[in-house]
Amino acid sequence: MGVHDGWISHPKEQPMRVAVVGTGHVGLITCVSMAAIGHSVIGVDVDEEKIEMLKMGRCPFYEPGLEELLIRAMSEERLSFTSDIGEAARSAEIVFICVGTPARLNGEANLLAVEDSARAVARDAAPGTIVVEKSTVPAGTANRVRLVLDQERPDLRGELEVVSNPEFLREGSAMEDALFPERVLIGAASDKAFTVMSDLYGPIIDRGTELIETDIPTAELAKHACNAFLAMKISYVNGLARICELAGADVMDVAKVMGSDPRIGPYFLNAGLGYGGFCFPKDLVAFERLADRLGYEFPLLGAVARINDEAIDNALGKIRDALWNLEGKRVALLGLSFKPETDDIRFSPALELASRLIAEGVEVIGYDPEAAANAKEELPALTIAEDAYAAVSGAHCVVLATEWAEFSSLDLNQVRDLMIHPIVIDGRNALDPEAVHAAGLHYHPTGRPSVPARTVESQPA
Ligand code: UDX
Repeated sequence: MGVHDGWISHPKEQPMRVAVVGTGHVGLITCVSMAAIGHSVIGVDVDEEKIEMLKMGRCPFYEPGLEELLIRAMSEERLSFTSDIGEAARSAEIVFICVGTPARLNGEANLLAVEDSARAVARDAAPGTIVVEKSTVPAGTANRVRLVLDQERPDLRGELEVVSNPEFLREGSAMEDALFPERVLIGAASDKAFTVMSDLYGPIIDRGTELIETDIPTAELAKHACNAFLAMKISYVNGLARICELAGADVMDVAKVMGSDPRIGPYFLNAGLGYGGFCFPKDLVAFERLADRLGYEFPLLGAVARINDEAIDNALGKIRDALWNLEGKRVALLGLSFKPETDDIRFSPALELASRLIAEGVEVIGYDPEAAANAKEELPALTIAEDAYAAVSGAHCVVLATEWAEFSSLDLNQVRDLMIHPIVIDGRNALDPEAVHAAGLHYHPTGRPSVPARTVESQPA
């Protein structure tokens, strides 16, 4: 199903009026998907530069299908942008809050932007406006938002509603996830709010998508529960990978056996450098802090985060084993984004590995099809190569850190010829061991037996 299949060409004559506060990864996808299903949407952000860019039909980040639909929605006058939150609030019957909830130093979610947005929306909201929290927030946030609305607008006490409607968007397929979700989750406290929200999502629900209606704290908590569970699956398989390495077993086959049991399922069992991105790491810690605050110690969550950190240690250990002394060695890092199909480098395991290698005196040459500029900005000591072959040229070792599809079709003979030592560390198990072996490269995957090179130990420098 392509993103254009989600476009409703003949929407209702009276579109619902939607405002979206925050035009980041969640907000912009919400703007475009709501417009695609026929609503009249206004997106707002405090970042005026970003708003100017969006007004010109340009996306501030890469996400497949997003820019095309953004332009289409704007040209059909379903979507506009402003930096004036009052203007957005005045014009809308439903206001999505999609601002960032970054981690505080103690790991708790920082909800200041949520509070500020709710206050600003309340000042200009009309009676009956529904304020929807879409940002990932700890259970209990809606109560706080409701208090803020009442403080700002005592004249409308009880007339401004709060709804929880968490997103389940994966970067790289966020547009598709928004238009063809597995479920629509609505936490609300009144029949009217449930009705308005199910009308809003009508075109998506009509496609057979499951609608789950529940109370607000349950909806808020469900989002954290999903992300923490998925992170747990990844850490489980990464812990397993370590045991497989010690026992001489193959984690991919173990995962295959596990995945064939429908109670476990085959997804999120790829061993590697671990999870990153702006959701899993921060949501997991925020969930742990929430549990603490509520008086329940949830030790599993801490273990999940620890195993994730150890995945980087494990890769670093392999590089050290392969290169002996690290100072002055050159490592090619293939992939810099936190996962393929995105230019997002936030909490990227690849960049964490790069910065630790650099701290140990390694020259790191990175290549990424989309994330190179962001990576360079985040880690200026990283050298960027134009393509994968330029990155591996003169390298003592190559590490595949993010499994972009193009890395599976690399000409491995050329890679071997360009390298100083023919050593490949596969941090995502994305290469075919046989092909790597046949090309004369030493292959060190994750949680699987290493495969020595078919030919000589090293090539001449
Ligand atoms: C995630 C959730 O999937 C989404 O529902 C939520 O709304 C936001 O957070 P996202 O961060 O875009 O989405 O990425 P996702 O595809 O879930 O991957 C998260 C991380 O886990 C990536 O770093 C990925 O490389 C890693 N991962 C995933 C693994 O290491 N192994 C796997 O088997 C799967």
